[in-house]
Amino acid sequence: MSKILVTGGAGFIGSAVIKLYQELGHEIFVIDNLSFGNRDFIDVDDAHFFKEDILDGEKITSIITDMKPDSIVHLAAIHFIPYCNKHPYESSNININGTINILNAAKEAKVKQVLFASTAAVYPIYDEAVSEMNDTGPMDIYGLSKLTGEHLCNEFHLESGIPTIICRFFNAFGPNETNPHLIPEIQDQVNGGKRTINLGNLTPKRDFIHTSDMATAVNTLQEKVKEGIHVFNLGRGIEYSVTDIVDAFERELGEKITIEVDQARVRKTERMHLLADVSKLKSLGWEPKIGIDEGIKTLLK
Ligand SMILES: NC(=O)c1ccc[n+]([C@@H]2O[C@H](COP(=O)([O-])OP(=O)(O)OC[C@H]3O[C@@H](n4cnc5c(N)ncnc54)[C@H](O)[C@@H]3O)[C@@H](O)[C@H]2O)c1
Repeated sequence: MSKILVTGGAGFIGSAVIKLYQELGHEIFVIDNLSFGNRDFIDVDDAHFFKEDILDGEKITSIITDMKPDSIVHLAAIHFIPYCNKHPYESSNININGTINILNAAKEAKVKQVLFASTAAVYPIYDEAVSEMNDTGPMDIYGLSKLTGEHLCNEFHLESGIPTIICRFFNAFGPNETNPHLIPEIQDQVNGGKRTINLGNLTPKRDFIHTSDMATAVNTLQEKVKEGIHVFNLGRGIEYSVTDIVDAFERELGEKITIEVDQARVRKTERMHLLADVSKLKSLGWEPKIGIDEGIKTLLK
């Protein structure tokens, strides 16, 4: 059993990671200010839950040095891209200065490992699967803030020698979604009884991975990476268009869904592809288990 601190643990991905880690018998601590997360997503008692802002460096260091976790999974961030674009100062402040505070505290507390949640948004546009060897080139403030987080992790590892994992998450789907991404948007409209749904661009493709598969991947990385600093893509390695996703809803619902394009939702600039090459992660023995149909089935009422 390990003592693991999950920052942002009350969020979408954090709640899936915590569920798995509790099943595996780890002692879980959470720091989350609940700005986007939900206390009810996780079964963590008050002695293990710290409703704190990662921007409060002194408090965070004091909590983490008292807690003495073996490792930290640093997920706390602002990540919904439209929100980041509207609030560039707030989101980059949390994603950069908040990360500095977590890394400083990790150093003080002499943890044995840190895993940092980065993103596919650190990559520029590629029309084929993107590997960790591809050049980065973020296209928005969110990707830029996360790439800065990666650089901070590099500096942290060089100074402390603490094993560090940079995990570039692709598009998550599953229960406990906290932001109005594509799949929860379709889910809400369909569960609300609509069979004609309003969406934006239909052709962009994304690599959707279920949060329970993300959790097993995070666990594999934590178990297998015990030295150095390493970057891993975390996706499913399959890309789906918006219409592919609606087709999956139709199959699981057994009813026809008609799409109406809502011009107000159409983004002016859009990546047409975002697909992960996950061979590096798979070389550690990890395999995703939940397909798009199986995952969507659980989202229907
Ligand atoms: N969901 C995705 O598809 C996706 C894709 C790529 C990367 N990521 C990254 O994975 C991580 C988790 O994402 P998620 O989808 O679970 O998002 P989320 O918003 O559900 O979770 C983030 C959590 O961090 C907390 N938080 C935000 N600001 C905080 C602060 N200042 N102090 C303390 N807690 C704070 C929120 O309350 C929330 O519970 C993030 O770092 C995100 O950038 C997510």
